[in-house]
Amino acid sequence: MHKVLITGAKGQVGSELLKALPKGFTAIALDSTELNITDQQQVTAVIAQHKPDLIINAAAYTAVDKAESDSATAFAVNEQGVAWLAQGAQEAGIPLFHISTDYVFDGNATTPYKENDPVNPQSIYGASKLAGEQILSSTLNQHIILRTSWVFGATGNNFVKTMLRLAAERDELSVVADQYGCPTSANSIAGVLWQLAQMYLASGHLPWGVYHFSNSPACTWYDFACEIFKQAASMQLLETVPTVQAITTAEYPTAAHRPAWSVLHTEKIEHLLQAKTPNWQQQLRQVLQELH
Ligand SMILES: NC(=O)c1ccc[n+]([C@@H]2O[C@H](COP(=O)([O-])OP(=O)(O)OC[C@H]3O[C@@H](n4cnc5c(N)ncnc54)[C@H](OP(=O)(O)O)[C@@H]3O)[C@@H](O)[C@H]2O)c1
Repeated sequence: MHKVLITGAKGQVGSELLKALPKGFTAIALDSTELNITDQQQVTAVIAQHKPDLIINAAAYTAVDKAESDSATAFAVNEQGVAWLAQGAQEAGIPLFHISTDYVFDGNATTPYKENDPVNPQSIYGASKLAGEQILSSTLNQHIILRTSWVFGATGNNFVKTMLRLAAERDELSVVADQYGCPTSANSIAGVLWQLAQMYLASGHLPWGVYHFSNSPACTWYDFACEIFKQAASMQLLETVPTVQAITTAEYPTAAHRPAWSVLHTEKIEHLLQAKTPNWQQQLRQVLQELH
């Protein structure tokens, strides 16, 4: 049995990792109350106690707007917490798989971002996630950084669940139509992480480094909302479908700046796994069925 330590086990990705646990693996799945990754002693003690073969860090500070006024906590979790995990993994001689974000880029591009494109975060959250990437890659050779975008799933808070909630409360909604990105199911992220884990544990090696993974194709938040309502209505998940107004980012001010272009180039991971990234509309159908 391969033993994998999963942090942030009750988050969107953490819970999908558990649901998709492959045969031959056992998970030590700990939520923030069981393992606070900002506490070095706890991190060291958990690794010493369980002796995992691999760590998957699904823990993060993900409140993008709140981070603007709570920078210390964002950096404590997204940088310092990753540093403790990387140090613990280094001492134990095991790899760390980590998840990062499209928000490390400034969003001024017009073609999909490749792994080695220049980073330039525009928010505290993005900066804290980039700091986590940097400390991980400088501490531990055996690491995977999987950058992803617009995560949704049946568990936790996300755009799909917000849209369904608002649809039950309102007849009309305004959704931003000038930010482009790729919705990505938490379930598909978990699938990729488990495939990488299986590859590593079968061979003792992986081509370490940064990978971009998202579902496809790119769309705007407005397109995403329209598809959520179309599918939810066809499944009788909604009593009435709201009218969706397309608005600009300027008409929907938020504390954190969001990239206008968040599309990730996914060929590197597709080549490694010999598989195309999944279609988000299909992934959405599965999530809505689960919520049904
Ligand atoms: N959500 C997105 O749209 C998105 C987009 C791109 C990349 N990502 C990245 O994908 C990864 C997974 O995100 P997600 O959407 O699954 O996030 P999530 O649902 O917010 O889950 C994050 C989990 O981390 C836990 N956590 C927070 N602080 C912690 C600490 N100090 N110690 C241990 N656990 C802690 C949280 O627990 P509590 O709730 O108890 O605090 C939560 O269960 C993150 O690295 C995120 O940056 C997410």
